[in-house]
Amino acid sequence: MSEHNILLPRDVPLWEDAKPYLNVRNNDEHTLVAYGLARALLEQTPDADESTVLPAILLHDVGWKRIDPNLLLDAIGTNPTRKDLVFDHEKYGVEIASNILTKHKPEGVNIKAVLAIIDGHDTVKEARSINDAVVKDADKGWRTTPHGMKIICGWYNWSVAEYITAMEKVALPHMLSPAGKALAHCLIAARKAELAIPSYIEAPSHD
Ligand SMILES: [Fe+2]
Ligand SMILES: [Fe+2]
Repeated sequence: MSEHNILLPRDVPLWEDAKPYLNVRNNDEHTLVAYGLARALLEQTPDADESTVLPAILLHDVGWKRIDPNLLLDAIGTNPTRKDLVFDHEKYGVEIASNILTKHKPEGVNIKAVLAIIDGHDTVKEARSINDAVVKDADKGWRTTPHGMKIICGWYNWSVAEYITAMEKVALPHMLSPAGKALAHCLIAARKAELAIPSYIEAPSHD
């Protein structure tokens, strides 16, 4: 896979229409990385259907665009004070995604199934189907990736140690599929081990 074909050709027109709704709170980058993760999780989850999972992960966060940008960080994190906004971004997301999907009618995509996953992707913690589980795992699993760490530590000005503690609370317990659980568990374990390096090696080599 070259660096330029993360998105399936079917999903490129959806991405182009979603982009103007994703340029808040780094949602555009988050969406692309989560889409890449979803493709990898799909490879490990043969029962899931990519034609529902991939459009859903691509469009899941378009609704944040309608929320006051100054309130975005109050809606997420380890102690959110505006959980109502999380419901709102799902409701707006269903409306916006419905318009985009109805316009393009991507071949082989069950629009109703995609919208059902976008609705509740954050507020319903359990998986309602294997497709729902893969979308949720790609979304929450993003937090444990190097990209997620960079972005999230920047939002809250967290150290790596604070980030790891937070991930054990806001990512790990919410992973649903075997592949998603393995992803988050391994990435957090690797971060922890990396953090412990100086306690075992006084002057780490740089070879
Ligand atoms: Fe979301
Ligand atoms: Fe998301």
